[in-house]
Amino acid sequence: MFPTKVKRLLQLRHTLWGCASLKAPCSRLVLGIETSCDDTGAAVMDESGKILGESLHSQKEVHLRTGGIIPKVAQQLHRENIERVVQEALERSHVAPSRLSAVATTVKPGLGLSLGIGLDFSRRFVRQHNKPFIPIHHMEAHALTVRMLQPVPFPFLVLLVSGGHSLLAVARGVDDFLLLGHSLDEAPGDTMDKVARRLSLIKHPQCSTLSGGQALELLAKDGDRSRFPFRTPMGQTYDCCFSFAGLRNQVNMAIMKKEAEEGIEQGTLLSCVKDIAAATQHTVASHLAKRTHRAIVFCKENGMLPSSNPTLVLSGGVASNEYIRKTLSIITETTGLHLLCPPAKFCTDNGVMIAWNGVERLREGKGILPPNVDVCYEPKALLGVDMSAEVRAAAIRLPSVRIKIHN
Ligand code: KG4
Ligand code: ZN
Repeated sequence: MFPTKVKRLLQLRHTLWGCASLKAPCSRLVLGIETSCDDTGAAVMDESGKILGESLHSQKEVHLRTGGIIPKVAQQLHRENIERVVQEALERSHVAPSRLSAVATTVKPGLGLSLGIGLDFSRRFVRQHNKPFIPIHHMEAHALTVRMLQPVPFPFLVLLVSGGHSLLAVARGVDDFLLLGHSLDEAPGDTMDKVARRLSLIKHPQCSTLSGGQALELLAKDGDRSRFPFRTPMGQTYDCCFSFAGLRNQVNMAIMKKEAEEGIEQGTLLSCVKDIAAATQHTVASHLAKRTHRAIVFCKENGMLPSSNPTLVLSGGVASNEYIRKTLSIITETTGLHLLCPPAKFCTDNGVMIAWNGVERLREGKGILPPNVDVCYEPKALLGVDMSAEVRAAAIRLPSVRIKIHN
């Protein structure tokens, strides 16, 4: 019926786009799977970034009750939920596995036991359905999520702050990052979770179901931060790395002092929790702001960002914090950058961001593996090329910026 050349073209189109009907324009579909920490997430997305179906199971309440994430418990909960979560995402999208063009799964960094569940499930799934596999770096996914919502051309500066990480990087391409700074000890979300736990905020009527960061943000709204003047970390280190362990120590000392003054035991709510929350949140925000300010100056001095409309993207679970967003907006206004933050539901972990990372990689043909290739998970994995030594060597002193935010 068709001349051979046309037939070949049609076959090629069919192979490239995995689409049965040639009439309707059809996009490739990616299933994204996330299990790197305490959320079991899955989503099906088309190539334009449209979410066709998603499902998310959060373990937050269990870990709140046990006073932190116990890796074995997280693993067991992922194991119990992964099949259902993936099934739900597929059903809600009305997409059969056979119609998928690829499966993208977080394989690094994260809790080994949690990553293992997502990876094992995905390995079986891609073999069973004979689908290409796209291993995903969790922080790359956080960094690229914003591009699912609006066109943000490379390069841009990105600050990623979550329960497991804090980093500043220049995103130059889907798989091309220059790392300017990262946490030397714990992550800001981890610090906020631990402070909230030390304050026993789970016993506070307004906070019992909130993550530590959410609880501190809520209480800080009515707190007076000036009652606890915590020192901003690393004031004498002129680089873009972060440290939060010292801040946690300062907060713990202040809590112990107050407990002694009020004559109460650890585990009882202090009368000044709101002030401690406000001071902790402010110090975290101000540390993030100073390191980001230096990263912006470094990028400008080295021509690493476009002169027209340079952008800072802020993402990761901690980026849902309004106070932190406002603090960073003061820095971007001062330095002439444009600040972009995905809405809170796309800042925290989910399957959607992994599916989008898969779409970005599929479009560029980067890191797409055949179904039978063996992939290992990596609990620790830096994002991109580490430039933190160069940033430190530049020893940039910053002009002071007044950070005053009304609650
Ligand atoms: O990105 P995410 O969902 O998981 C990780 O990859 O870690 O981030 C979770 C972290 C938790 O530490 C939580 O306390 C923090 O994000 N978080 C917040 C807020 N909402 C979540 N921190 C500060 N303010 C918030 N509103
Ligand atoms: Zn995350």
